[in-house]
Amino acid sequence: MYRVVQFGTGFVGHFALRAIIEHPDLELVGVWVHSDEKVGLDAGDIAGTAKTGVLATHDLDRLLALDADCFCSAAGGDGREEWMTEVHARILEAGHDVVSSSIVGMVDPDSHPDGTLSRRLDEAAKRGGVSYFTSGIEPGFMSDTLPLALTGISQRWRSIRVREILDYSTYIPSEAEKILGDILGFGRPMEDQPILFTPGRLTYVWGGPVTLVARGLGVELDEVREVSERFPASDSFEVEGFGRVAAGTAEALRFELQGMVDGRAAIVLEHITRLRPESAPDWPRGDAGDGYYVDVEGDPNLHCHIACTGPDGDHHSGGILATGTRLVNAIPAVCAAPPGAISALDLPPLHARHLYRPD
Ligand SMILES: NC(=O)c1ccc[n+]([C@@H]2O[C@H](COP(=O)([O-])OP(=O)(O)OC[C@H]3O[C@@H](n4cnc5c(N)ncnc54)[C@H](OP(=O)(O)O)[C@@H]3O)[C@@H](O)[C@H]2O)c1
Repeated sequence: MYRVVQFGTGFVGHFALRAIIEHPDLELVGVWVHSDEKVGLDAGDIAGTAKTGVLATHDLDRLLALDADCFCSAAGGDGREEWMTEVHARILEAGHDVVSSSIVGMVDPDSHPDGTLSRRLDEAAKRGGVSYFTSGIEPGFMSDTLPLALTGISQRWRSIRVREILDYSTYIPSEAEKILGDILGFGRPMEDQPILFTPGRLTYVWGGPVTLVARGLGVELDEVREVSERFPASDSFEVEGFGRVAAGTAEALRFELQGMVDGRAAIVLEHITRLRPESAPDWPRGDAGDGYYVDVEGDPNLHCHIACTGPDGDHHSGGILATGTRLVNAIPAVCAAPPGAISALDLPPLHARHLYRPD
């Protein structure tokens, strides 16, 4: 039995919390929340399960003093990476393993563009004798583990392309204005540069899967190139939970991170993100509709589509649920891994062990 603290209970965090509470091999021992209104709530009330007797708190020191094996961090780290790094370093130095979706670029600690940040976490983990693992659905499972697994049947490969094609109008994180507006640039004038498209930022956030797949396949990248564009709305429309997208402001975005080998884009991660179906009609839609696509061109040619939907039938709740579950299912393997900041390449395949539920 692994004793676990949930750190952050937003969209990802509340799914992770539920997965911990309901996992027969895990015991929830603490919950950290940022929001004042959640302090004192029973973890079961936040996760939508039966009561647990574990109450949410702001008090990190008290949680650090618990005899916990692992912290599962889903606090929003976007734009507050320095603070998040220091909090994670404290947790690691106190001797607790960490699984996290908070600093998304850390899916590949070895090539994270901010070497100071990744070294700080790696050294803190080694000092604490524990491991630090970052994942999610994307960046994470769909763009590193899945393509790597598919190449297990490749006699040779010449290119790999992972595509996320999604409508984000149902992805309303609690910090919607910051994430959808400031960072992704939706509803913002076309001449404004969203934070995500400032040079280097795409690589900072999403470069990890490209470098990780390259390393897993033993190829050396010359560089990771960033390509990005946005598409303006032809008329104004409302996105529930986010607000009005005015005509002429951005309603879709597309980017590629191209892992270059001898001048060829050999490993590519592409996102096509719309706020409504009719947007950007000339951009790819995928032959099976929205979802994740992995194409491995080679012998054999492989084409894979995954639709990931949640209990409400929505692809975003499915993806966010999968992000939380990816972290929770990794806990036993991360606790058994050697100390340091690790990646999917350092872990055995992770399965839904002991999670058969016929009802
Ligand atoms: N790799 C992937 O596939 C993937 C997918 C989705 C999200 N993510 C990442 O996972 C993280 C959480 O995403 P989400 O969708 O769950 O976001 P969210 O719904 O907006 O939740 C925000 C989380 O951050 C906490 N928080 C809010 N304001 C804060 C502040 N000022 N200081 C510290 N913490 C604060 C909240 O605390 P409370 O507990 O009080 O609510 C909550 O836990 C983000 O960093 C996101 O980029 C990764």
